[in-house]
Amino acid sequence: MPDKYAVIGNPVAHSKSPLIHAEFARQTGEDVSYAAILAAHGDFETAVERFRSEGGRGMNVTLPFKHRAHALAQKRSRRAEQALAVNTLAFESDAVHGDNTDGVGLVRDLTVNLGRALRGTRILLMGAGGASYGVCGPLLDESPAELIVANRTKAKALTLCEHFRRLHPAAPVLSGCSYEDLAGKRFDLVVNATSAGLTGEMPALPPGVFAAGALGYDMLYGGSTPFLEFAGGEGGETADGLGMLVEQAAESFRIWRGVRPETGPVIAMLRL
Ligand code: ATR
Repeated sequence: MPDKYAVIGNPVAHSKSPLIHAEFARQTGEDVSYAAILAAHGDFETAVERFRSEGGRGMNVTLPFKHRAHALAQKRSRRAEQALAVNTLAFESDAVHGDNTDGVGLVRDLTVNLGRALRGTRILLMGAGGASYGVCGPLLDESPAELIVANRTKAKALTLCEHFRRLHPAAPVLSGCSYEDLAGKRFDLVVNATSAGLTGEMPALPPGVFAAGALGYDMLYGGSTPFLEFAGGEGGETADGLGMLVEQAAESFRIWRGVRPETGPVIAMLRL
C-alpha cells in the first residue's frame, strides 16, 4: 500500500498539487498516493483527524485553512511561526508537525529557476495579507538591502512589519507604507502578493518603481495578470507564480520523504 498524502482546502478541485506530487512520485520512485480533499468550512479539523486516523502521513493545506492548520499543529517550524500559517502537515508518531514552504518556494523560484540573487537588492512586496506573511521571512533570510511592504491599507503593512521586527534579525531592512509613498523609489524586484489579480485589478503602483533590469513577479499563476502587464510596460522582466507553486510542493515532498524532486521538468510540463 502506498503512503497516503493529500491536499485539503475549499475549494480544492482546481488544485494542481495532485498532478505535481504524482510527477514527483514517478520521478523519485517513492511509493505514495496523493488525493484532494474538500472540507466544509466548519469541518477542517475533523477532516484532518479522519485522514490521519485512516493512515494518512501528511497533508498540504490551502485556502482558507492555513491559519487553522497553524493552530492545529502541535509542533511548528520557525518559518511556520513567522508566517502564522501552515501549508504542510507531517503526521509523526507523537505529534502533528506544521511547516510553511511557500516562502522558500518563492525564493527558490527566484534564485534557482530565474537566476536572481537577492542579497543586497531592493525588494518591494505588494500586499500585507496571508501571502505576504508566508514569504516575508524567507525573503529577509536572503539579506536584501531593503524590503518594503506596500499595501492599500497601510496599517496592515505596518502591523506585518512589527510582527517580523519581533521575530527576524534582518528586520531593520524592513518597512511598511502605502502605494503613494513609493513615488520616486526604485526596486530590483517587485513581488505581487495581493489578491487583486483574481478580480482583474491591480494595486495603485506608481510608475517608475522598476529599476533597470528589474523583475516583476506575480505570485498568481496562469499567464498574464494586470500587474504583469504593468510591469512589462514599465520595462521590467516578468514571471508568474507557477515556479513557486512547484517549488513549495517540492519542499513539502522533501519534508515528507527526505528526497528533493527535480522541479524543472514539472514546471515545463505544467506550462504545456
Ligand atoms: P488574506 O490573505 O489575509 O485573506 P486578502 O483579503 O486575500 O487577505 O488580501 C490579500 C491582499 O491583497 C491584501 O493586502 C489586500 O489589501 P488590503 O489589506 O488593503 O485589503 C490586497 N488586495 C486585494 N485586492 C486589492 C486591490 N484591488 N487593490 C490593492 N490591493 C488589494
